Amino acid sequence: MTIAIIGSGHMSKALSALYAASGEHVVIGSRNPGNGVQSIADAAAAADIVLLAVPYHAAAETIAAANGFKGKILVDMTNPLKPDFSGITIGFSTSAAEEIAKLAPEAQVVKGFNTIFASILANGGKVAGQPVTVFLAGDDAEAVAQVEAVTARAGFKVIKSGPLANARHLEALGMLNIALGYHLGHGTDIAPTFVGL
Ligand SMILES: NC(=O)c1ccc[n+]([C@@H]2O[C@H](COP(=O)([O-])OP(=O)(O)OC[C@H]3O[C@@H](n4cnc5c(N)ncnc54)[C@H](OP(=O)(O)O)[C@@H]3O)[C@@H](O)[C@H]2O)c1
Repeated sequence: MTIAIIGSGHMSKALSALYAASGEHVVIGSRNPGNGVQSIADAAAAADIVLLAVPYHAAAETIAAANGFKGKILVDMTNPLKPDFSGITIGFSTSAAEEIAKLAPEAQVVKGFNTIFASILANGGKVAGQPVTVFLAGDDAEAVAQVEAVTARAGFKVIKSGPLANARHLEALGMLNIALGYHLGHGTDIAPTFVGL
């Protein structure tokens, strides 16, 4: 399986290492290709699954740079944060993932990874020796199943979380994670899950 990760920041670096370690072929797409990093369009063209690891405010320009990620499974990990991280900017009637799906109507959008701090991913995707949980939400069962398969192979616990509209809840959960970690002083070695699932 070829996985393209768009963006070359914290989430990209950590996830590329984890997926490569589990045997996937990983390519990186960037606004500034070179040194083994591809253009956004070339990386997307090579991939079965594309992970969107850019800020939410850069989603539209990134989707345009890849001609809409047509025919691809597009995993959206963005949190639509206010500039000061005090809250999210949308959520009751839509979500970042649903807005991204409108911008990329020929992609199959799956929400995932937005509730996990990059530092945990960089440490192997575990907290206290336990795999952290990746919540996946999407409208296409086959697309969700493919993301689930590679993500479970990379060592994560996966909780399938219903249709893409449930990204509204996952993005709120991502915000709670940030509030606990940063605003309430618990630090970033925390991640949400559900006991019993
Ligand atoms: N960090 C976390 O703990 C965490 C946790 C959960 C979810 N997320 C979400 O994951 C996404 C990536 O987060 P990150 O922490 O990896 O961010 P980051 O370190 O700032 O990296 C973002 C990357 O996006 C690319 N990019 C494209 N357009 C951009 C623009 N206009 N401004 C800035 N960067 C742009 C850049 O790569 P190129 O220069 O190569 O194009 C950049 O390296 C965000 O949507 C964030 O909300 C982050």
